[in-house]
Amino acid sequence: MNIIHVDKVSKTYGMKKSDKEYQILNEISFEVKEGEFIGVMGASGSGKTTLLNILGSLDKPTSGRIIMNGHDIATLSKKKLAVHRTENIGFIFQDYNLLETMTLKENIILPLALKGIDVNAIETKLLPLINDLGIEKVIDKYPYEVSGGEQQRAAACRALITKPRLILADEPTGNLDSKSSKGLLNLLTYINKEYKATILMVTHDVFAASYCQKIMFIHDGEIYNELFAGTDKKQFFDKIIQVMSVLGGERQ
Ligand SMILES: Nc1ncnc2c1ncn2[C@@H]1O[C@H](COP(=O)(O)OP(=O)(O)OP(=O)(O)O)[C@@H](O)[C@H]1O
Ligand SMILES: [Mg+2]
Repeated sequence: MNIIHVDKVSKTYGMKKSDKEYQILNEISFEVKEGEFIGVMGASGSGKTTLLNILGSLDKPTSGRIIMNGHDIATLSKKKLAVHRTENIGFIFQDYNLLETMTLKENIILPLALKGIDVNAIETKLLPLINDLGIEKVIDKYPYEVSGGEQQRAAACRALITKPRLILADEPTGNLDSKSSKGLLNLLTYINKEYKATILMVTHDVFAASYCQKIMFIHDGEIYNELFAGTDKKQFFDKIIQVMSVLGGERQ
């Protein structure tokens, strides 16, 4: 079953019919099936974050449709969109988006607190997550008191705590060392398998990408190529490197 159907989505910035129109996405179409773990790769500036924001209904396409649960999300009212986002989608942003006036713990449990879930139930959900991501020691600190990697892990906990059907992650391992990266990727894999959460993850990192079942490469506003994991992980890894060396965009 499809969780998202992306139908000829385009995004342009700038004034129409002037010289300064930038076409970021050019009639992109694809489908995401329930339970898939998809990587999105492409050079810096190729439109990955733009695409993720459109899928998450944080941004609107210039044209085209995003069909989720049988509805074109662009046609939903603001109120319905907000409900749709909190109920169905977990975001892990490139720049964390933690609230500076709240501790990491308060940030993480915010989506549950907003739903009125009781404190004990919240603690039960919180503890395994913060243990898995190794942030139990810094949980009562404020974002400015912890490292970028710790903020990233807290942001991941916040996205995962509601067990959303769809997780949109923008370079979730971008600021993590290899141990924390593995921890986060294993957690995403676990959530994908156990909770059947569908994941779209933008990444520059071939190691992170090799956890996905499929990679979509974005180039010149279009889907340039798709790679499927298959059984041989090493072969998948090598193929990703090959495509990235043509397109550029892997950060070393
Ligand atoms: N609000 C905006 N107004 C005008 N141009 C924008 C806006 N947001 C993004 N862009 C441009 O759209 C292009 C795609 O940006 P986007 O952030 O989607 O790239 P990206 O693939 O996520 O890159 P990175 O890997 O560096 O994060 C860039 O050239 C960017 O400058
Ligand atoms: Mg980006």
